Amino acid sequence: MIRSVVRGFGASLPKRVVTNREMEEKVDTSDEWIVQRTGIRQRYIAGEGETTASLGEAAARAALERAKLTPADIDLIILATSTPDNTFPATAVNIQNRLGMHHGAAFDVQAVCSGFIYAVTTADAYIRGGLARRVLVIGAETFSRILDWSDRTTCVLFGDGAGAIVLEAQETEGTNADRGVLTTKLRSDGAHKEKLYVDGGPSTTGTVGHLKMEGREVFKHAVGMITDVIEAAFEATGTTADDLDWLVPHQANRRIIDGSAKKLGIPLEKVVVTVDIHGNTSAASIPLALNEAASDGRIKEGDLVLLEAMGGGFTWGSVLLRW
Ligand code: UT7
Repeated sequence: MIRSVVRGFGASLPKRVVTNREMEEKVDTSDEWIVQRTGIRQRYIAGEGETTASLGEAAARAALERAKLTPADIDLIILATSTPDNTFPATAVNIQNRLGMHHGAAFDVQAVCSGFIYAVTTADAYIRGGLARRVLVIGAETFSRILDWSDRTTCVLFGDGAGAIVLEAQETEGTNADRGVLTTKLRSDGAHKEKLYVDGGPSTTGTVGHLKMEGREVFKHAVGMITDVIEAAFEATGTTADDLDWLVPHQANRRIIDGSAKKLGIPLEKVVVTVDIHGNTSAASIPLALNEAASDGRIKEGDLVLLEAMGGGFTWGSVLLRW
């Protein structure tokens, strides 16, 4: 059976770090409130010349280097983002060009904070269907550019950055012991649109718009939706929380991460947390967290790793893979 195996990983962050103390100077907030309610201590904010494409390109180059591959070895680029450089063309095509790659194909997927889960799921389908051999899957965002910097309920939460993995088709026995993506689960429900959205767009206002969120409402749904797709992944593979080596969740809020892990019986020592240093980087948060934990040696080849996310739409999903 063909499986999509992680061959490399990488990440890129903007140069500028903005601490909670600095946020206190922008809006009526406090380091104490932000840490207690979210676990966030700092975030990275893109400066002049730093865009979703530039961050995505740097993450892609790092992943290729780790995989000992070049752009010539890649046949598809899938970028998860909700903050493209332009309305069109797709930022993935921009990254493809920046990499000097003029073959194959590149496109964006848009599922907000679940974007990386959607992108990995799409890449896995292309690989297992024989349509691609090596896919560069990137999550890159510059949410700082769509924030209302006078709205303390949202501007303290988000940050910018990018992460990437290279998925490669490998022939395996098809068991849970083999490396690669074991299962993916995607869900969405547009009835929740007003709880987390951007109040602009090409076809409505002709403007980019700003992020709007009813945080408490999103929070209320988060744990239930996350546990739903995690339990579905366990059921599809006959695995349980005990089999997991690592849970790498979307990094929106420490309380949501802890609540989901507790509900699923996953000990916190097995949970990768980066929300304290990155804030919520939407589609970039999972690949950024994977890069941290795989670079420092926590995630090792052969580990069973569960990814999950929930975000605007609502969209939510999970990926169970053997690293
Ligand atoms: O990644 C996509 C998915 N997004 C999420 O998962 C986000 C989910 N939601 C959350 O993480 C949380 O709901 C928040 C962190 C956004 C907010 O935490 P909360 O515990 O739900 O707080 P709240 O919205 O109920 O606000 C509590 C109070 C309010 O004051 P009153 O009305 O009780 O007087 C807010 O006005 O905290 C106030 N507040 C702030 N105070 C200081 C809101 N933002 C701030 C702030 N600094 N930045």
